[in-house]
Amino acid sequence: MRIAVIGTGYVGLVTGACLARLGHSVICSDRSAEKISVLASGGLPIWEQGLDELLSEASSLNRIRFTTNIKSAVQESDILIICVGTPFGPNGEADLTQLWSVVKQIARHSTEKKFLVVKSTVPVGTTDEIDQWLQSVSANRNIDVIHNPEFLRQGNAIRDFFHPDRIVAGCRTDKAKHVVSDLYKDLPSPILFCDSRSSELIKYASNAFLAMKISYINMIADFSEQTGARIDVVAEGIGMDSRIGEAFLRAGIGYGGSCFPKDIMAFRAMGQKWDCPMPLLDSTVSINRLRPRRLVNKLTDELGMLKGKRIALLGLAFKPMTDDLREAPSLQISRICLEQGAAVHAYDPHVSDYPVPEVVLHRSLYDAIDSSDAVVIVTELEQLRCLDWQIVSKKLRTRLIIDGRNMFAWEEMLHIADTFDMTYISVGRPPIPASAAAGADFYKANQIRSI
Ligand code: UDX
Repeated sequence: MRIAVIGTGYVGLVTGACLARLGHSVICSDRSAEKISVLASGGLPIWEQGLDELLSEASSLNRIRFTTNIKSAVQESDILIICVGTPFGPNGEADLTQLWSVVKQIARHSTEKKFLVVKSTVPVGTTDEIDQWLQSVSANRNIDVIHNPEFLRQGNAIRDFFHPDRIVAGCRTDKAKHVVSDLYKDLPSPILFCDSRSSELIKYASNAFLAMKISYINMIADFSEQTGARIDVVAEGIGMDSRIGEAFLRAGIGYGGSCFPKDIMAFRAMGQKWDCPMPLLDSTVSINRLRPRRLVNKLTDELGMLKGKRIALLGLAFKPMTDDLREAPSLQISRICLEQGAAVHAYDPHVSDYPVPEVVLHRSLYDAIDSSDAVVIVTELEQLRCLDWQIVSKKLRTRLIIDGRNMFAWEEMLHIADTFDMTYISVGRPPIPASAAAGADFYKANQIRSI
């Protein structure tokens, strides 16, 4: 199939590279000449695991090209996939400026039969509006509009593309259904065909449900802290119920990224527009907003005033295996620490440019930790799994570890804190005091308890 992917952001690029791997001929078009020249010369404007190899393979097989010329991309393709961003608008609603600009260009340049696939996340009713508008500008232009949301997780996007739980396609004709089936014909996943409004809503409702799960478990984590329960055990017990499921029950400092925060705000704005308030979303957002400050409170509870203290932040992106800083909790955490007079040193293997200039970035994990008064784990970086605790304990000025992601097993930290005389504070689990402060009885009692 001859496909144009319009918009080479994260979703467009992954989609284009994966469709080329499936054997299709792909032209990726973007208005940014800078991005296109990077891509055309074999570079990558974003970091995503496995994407480099996939794009090199597609280029060597002549299955992918890059252009700023949307006219030729449209005219040389039968299927046009729109992957432009729909960022935060003024009142939280999705800003569709880029989407409509692309739709208008497509209308101008397409003369033959085309299938227009909207992959961007758009408010319910948008695909219908596009269809009506295309018909109004030319009744015989013959563009069949489909809505086909993506569910790609950053850092896992290529795997998610080839092994999706489901493919959703809002189609209005049988021909459109056939096109979607052919587009993804080698993927082992069910396709749910539906109307475009349901398809648009599936995307928002899925993301909101996942975000709600995260805020829910964070609310239960706070309650666990008050009552002495352990959130990891509680989440395990909840998740064993197959009606609930174990995924997205990791308590921590809340969700960030380019999708959840934006989509939930847009979903709330949609609720207002359609006169259907969604209070569960309001609570999801307000619980999430408080997470970073709550983490800093744990620091001040232990260290007192942060003025003059040095804090090591480990992991800056909104999650591991990405360089994406959009809505990353680290931004708020570092700003609060700086406001309170701390010096913030940080390490993230994928981040080399950070929008808070006062934060000192280090290339080495141990340099970031050196002479600090606390280590704060902000994302569950793979490198942290093999931390040398002896080095950490020697480098720290105050032996305090605040684990915002519960990335270490509580039992393991009981042993490590005892061995290296460190205080370990996590989320929704009892704090583990340094051995000198706690005394041998604390460790003995908790070792028995954790069995
Ligand atoms: C998400 C959706 O998963 C994907 O389907 C959609 O298309 C885009 O948005 P992504 O933003 O890449 O993907 O990240 P995801 O792995 O879903 O995590 C989102 C955020 O939730 C991260 O900040 C993560 O740290 C946090 N999270 C996730 C938790 O705090 N706890 C969890 O249990 C799971």
